[in-house]
Amino acid sequence: MASFTLFHLSITIIFLHVLVSATPSSSLSEQLSIPTHFLDFAKKSETFDWMVKIRRKIHEYPELLYEEYKTSELIRAELDKLGISYKHPVAETGVIGYIGTGNAPFVALRADMDALPMQEMVEWEHKSKVPGKMHACGHDAHVTMLLGAAKILKHHEKDIQGTIVLVFQPAEEGGAGAKRIIESGALENVSAIFGLHVMPYIRVGEVASRSGAMMAASGRFEATITGKGGHAAIPQHSVDPILAASNVIISLQHLVSRESDPLDSQVVTVAKFQGGDAFNVIPDSVTIGGTFRAFSKESFNHLKQRIEEKLPKVDS
Ligand SMILES: *[C@@H]1O[C@H](CO)[C@@H](O)[C@H](O)[C@H]1NC(C)=O
Repeated sequence: MASFTLFHLSITIIFLHVLVSATPSSSLSEQLSIPTHFLDFAKKSETFDWMVKIRRKIHEYPELLYEEYKTSELIRAELDKLGISYKHPVAETGVIGYIGTGNAPFVALRADMDALPMQEMVEWEHKSKVPGKMHACGHDAHVTMLLGAAKILKHHEKDIQGTIVLVFQPAEEGGAGAKRIIESGALENVSAIFGLHVMPYIRVGEVASRSGAMMAASGRFEATITGKGGHAAIPQHSVDPILAASNVIISLQHLVSRESDPLDSQVVTVAKFQGGDAFNVIPDSVTIGGTFRAFSKESFNHLKQRIEEKLPKVDS
């Protein structure tokens, strides 16, 4: 007897398009470069110091998925000061801002807002003031970067041929906040969207990208394998769920190594194996769980189906 649950999140694909175009006759490389007056404004200490302050404030008050009320309030207060109009609430705590003509093309910039249920262990002046919660994934920086972009773009609003849509998205950490933003219809006229993530191994001032998918889709699975517990010295009277679970794990490890295309990156990891708490007792049940990742919808759905087939079925 066993039961399992399976969750999955949607794939995020980053489209790269020219955001602010120069004159129609300019070359592609000129169009792709950021106008110097944008950069000069960005480098002003007034802009920089303001961003540092915002980031530290968000870092001190981390909020988990769909509870980003203070963060949302801070975002709206800054947008108000900048004179940027916005929609709120979208997907609970989300905020959608607008800069430009109000007409097409609509190009969106997106930042996630939520923190993680982790204790900050580093002692510093702006350490998280909320026990057990921390901006350990850098979304405090993402919100700040989007506000920074908003300030710069608003200052040069007359140069924008179209509309910039600022997307402050809740619940990236397992809450499918992106899906809820899309379902709200807020992105319906958007023809391109940019998202980014801070990376500790990329040097400050550098940006890395590539064409196609950048991040894999991610899914989770969990299964409880129930046997029949008993004394470890007389295994013939038990049905050992630890051995059964071990076989399931080995068989899950065959999916990527033996069934998938080596050039199509995929991951299946069993990261949870819980059962038994004595040397001489076979437990009644074992719970295993893990994650799977793939870059294409096809590979993702195939992995999901194969994991479902490998996990024991509910026996009613
Ligand atoms: C998208 O465009 C249509 C047609 O112009 C308009 O009615 C609608 O309100 C727009 N949606 C959003 C979310 O801006």
